[in-house]
Amino acid sequence: MKKFNFCEYFMFPPLNINREKLEQKLSGKTLLITGASYGIGKSLCHLLAGMSVHLVITARSTDKLLILKSEIEKQGTKVSVFSCNLYNTLECENLINFLKNISGGIDIFISNAGKSIRRPLNQSLERFHDYQRTMNLNYFAPVQLCLYLIPVLKKNKGHIISVSAVNVLLEPAPYWAAYQASKTAFDQWLRSNIPELNTMGITTSIIYLPLVKTRMIAPTPIYKNFPARKPIDAAIIIAKAIISKQNSYKPWWLFICQFASLTASKWFRIICTFYVKKNEKNRNSL
Ligand SMILES: NC(=O)c1ccc[n+]([C@@H]2O[C@H](COP(=O)([O-])OP(=O)(O)OC[C@H]3O[C@@H](n4cnc5c(N)ncnc54)[C@H](OP(=O)(O)O)[C@@H]3O)[C@@H](O)[C@H]2O)c1
Repeated sequence: MKKFNFCEYFMFPPLNINREKLEQKLSGKTLLITGASYGIGKSLCHLLAGMSVHLVITARSTDKLLILKSEIEKQGTKVSVFSCNLYNTLECENLINFLKNISGGIDIFISNAGKSIRRPLNQSLERFHDYQRTMNLNYFAPVQLCLYLIPVLKKNKGHIISVSAVNVLLEPAPYWAAYQASKTAFDQWLRSNIPELNTMGITTSIIYLPLVKTRMIAPTPIYKNFPARKPIDAAIIIAKAIISKQNSYKPWWLFICQFASLTASKWFRIICTFYVKKNEKNRNSL
């Protein structure tokens, strides 16, 4: 039996969703969900299963998407699958061409596909592609999709939901440069455009997620014992944003971290430098 984790409970109080309200809000709508094959995107699809919506799901893993489609369609929800690699602008263009054939167009765009990389700078010197890939997936692909979708969402009085991370609102941590720069880029792009999007009648919600137990955090051993949300919780947070159309979601404790980020950034950098030095020493002694 899993041990009760008080810290996790305190940081991440249990969530529930009013399915009836969600269903009312979504009835007859078409949702584009990127990154639906695993983790948060997949949990969101399961949460929406059984509702009278049309889910357009995308990711690279065709097999996973097809299994998900058959599971969800068994519950009466229509699912369209388009697999593509969003590192690639042309494949993103192919997705856009596919979306052009969706009758009525997209009502809600959930920009969820993402990749994180944790790598020291001195191991990144030959890996410019890490930066290109994270920027392509976490920044350029959602921008490319938004540019196509904006007129459609304007017509449908639609909603853009960006699945972001608390990190973009905090002092940046070492080893995460590729991920943080790319997530921050899309966050800034969207925030800068919010007044224009809202003027067009398009709602925007930015979901600043804390750590979520998905395959994304699995390669980082230090996260094993960190308090983290479950993928279904992240899906519920997104679903709540669909209902409430709130501008953003932030965990309740984030303001404390933001205050510390502002007032103690010098100390944070000193601690980070100490941590990096210690890691370097350990690596050199191996
Ligand atoms: N997990 C966390 O702690 C955490 C915290 C804050 C924010 N987030 C954000 O939450 C979102 C979802 O992450 P997750 O935790 O659910 O991770 P995940 O389980 O690794 O899922 C990522 C999804 O993105 C898709 N994807 C990855 N590379 C792609 C590519 N090149 N082209 C198309 N699709 C691609 C993956 O599908 P394929 O591999 O099949 O392509 C998968 O469906 C991300 O935007 C992430 O930044 C996560």
